[in-house]
Amino acid sequence: MRSSTLAFLLLPLLALSLAYYVQSHNSPLGPAPHLGVSLGVPLTLSGLASLAQAAAARVRSAATLAAVHPDVIYNNAHHYLVNVPVPKIQWPAVVQQWIPDLGLGSSVVIQQKPTTSSGLPALTLGPFEPLEVDPNREEFRRRIVAVGDIHGDVLNAYKILQTAGVVNEEGNWTGEVDMFVQTGDIIDRGDDTIILFKWFEDLRVEAEAVGGRVISHMGNHEWMNVIGDWRYVLPTEIQTFETVQKRFEALTTGWLGEAWAANYTVTSRIPLHPSLGPPNTDYPAPPASPHAHANNAGPLSHAAFSFVHGGLAPQYPALAPFPSAINELGASLLRKLRFRRPLPRPHPPYGYPGLPAGTTPEEARLYGGDGPLWYRGWAELPDAVVCKQVDGVLEKTGTRRMVMGHTPNFEGIRSRCDGKIIIIDTGISHAYGGAISALSVEYKLVPLQKGGWKEQEVVKAIYAEKEEEVLVMASRDVDGDDFW
Ligand SMILES: *[C@@H]1O[C@H](CO)[C@@H](O)[C@H](O)[C@H]1NC(C)=O
Ligand SMILES: *[C@@H]1O[C@H](CO)[C@@H](O)[C@H](O)[C@H]1NC(C)=O
Repeated sequence: MRSSTLAFLLLPLLALSLAYYVQSHNSPLGPAPHLGVSLGVPLTLSGLASLAQAAAARVRSAATLAAVHPDVIYNNAHHYLVNVPVPKIQWPAVVQQWIPDLGLGSSVVIQQKPTTSSGLPALTLGPFEPLEVDPNREEFRRRIVAVGDIHGDVLNAYKILQTAGVVNEEGNWTGEVDMFVQTGDIIDRGDDTIILFKWFEDLRVEAEAVGGRVISHMGNHEWMNVIGDWRYVLPTEIQTFETVQKRFEALTTGWLGEAWAANYTVTSRIPLHPSLGPPNTDYPAPPASPHAHANNAGPLSHAAFSFVHGGLAPQYPALAPFPSAINELGASLLRKLRFRRPLPRPHPPYGYPGLPAGTTPEEARLYGGDGPLWYRGWAELPDAVVCKQVDGVLEKTGTRRMVMGHTPNFEGIRSRCDGKIIIIDTGISHAYGGAISALSVEYKLVPLQKGGWKEQEVVKAIYAEKEEEVLVMASRDVDGDDFW
């Protein structure tokens, strides 16, 4: 009975009955009296059939990706009970993905129900209330795209930036996204260091000309290179700089070191909404700051993401204020490294130069195993540990999700603890042959007739060579008439 074939036959019917339910709920005649029995009826409603077919197609692909095959086992006018034989961590996103396809907006309540008589866990969707939008206030939208470790592969970087809508065919900024974030490790394992860093500086200027932003981070590999730890530098890549000497100059006092000092940080706090200030506005904001109101009570106080290469470890001492405490350590350590004289000779063949004389203990810890550049705990520790630790770090950093690279998963982007931890290193470079991926964040505040806003957030993994996957779909009501 619960073969996937049967599930796929039932899915379009579910989609149709959902569509019909909404349609009838909005109609002056009230809710349909006997949904499920009259599944033939919606087929006659103009426009609904194609909508439902599109939705069913989406459900099918989402279900395949997450290896979840839901069956409809019961519905009445208010609830749809759905059986999920293979509950994977991402099931709520898959279930919720039906809803916007059917034009339901985000006003859906998802509850975990007790195990059904079939012995399988079941979920209840509903009841649905259509969004009542206030036509007199403007909706707010922001789209952010983030890409992890690129490791010297400009072709794959270009593929994913184009797929995600960041650049067009010519590699120019499209203006379709508000922010493009890269979490470090552009360098090493490939030859395209120069072209990648120059391209990102061009994109930064193009983006800013139309109100966009490019947000860049140094990964542990950028730091290794400026330190003189060149173990992962290919000889062919050195040739692109001509000589070892010229390369070391470029990435210390030359153009690349200058770009790192001017336009790269260790971590960042990226707001979903402008009331939190521009990117990298500190949390908590100093009392005199115009953003201080968002520190505690503000409904959007944590409507931000953190980005970093390795991870913000719970025990790491410089988490607050975030992100300036970390980024100030990064800036001072980078300065010391760039202006060492004489410059050390790179390892190998010479010995490991280490951090320069005058490095403070705080700067050394920044580059340590539990520092933001190297930490792997969020990727490697079990759910029971990380899901308990994550809220404390989000609270301290004024964020709702943390995004990082560094620990590759070649199959795709990993979302843990309901998307509070998102790991975007998928081994994009041909050096690994992993999934060519980007993270997409779509944020919306929809003005409601009754006052306040409906906040909607969709976080997706986008792939150049396979179908996208919804990782998080969240929504809530937010009080307040005007945030900007
Ligand atoms: C597009 O990119 C090219 C190459 O980086 C650059 O020369 C050109 O100025 C860009 N065009 C625009 C409109 O920014
Ligand atoms: C840093 O970015 C700005 C644009 O924000 C650009 O004008 C500048 O040239 C960049 N600096 C370096 C050293 O690349």
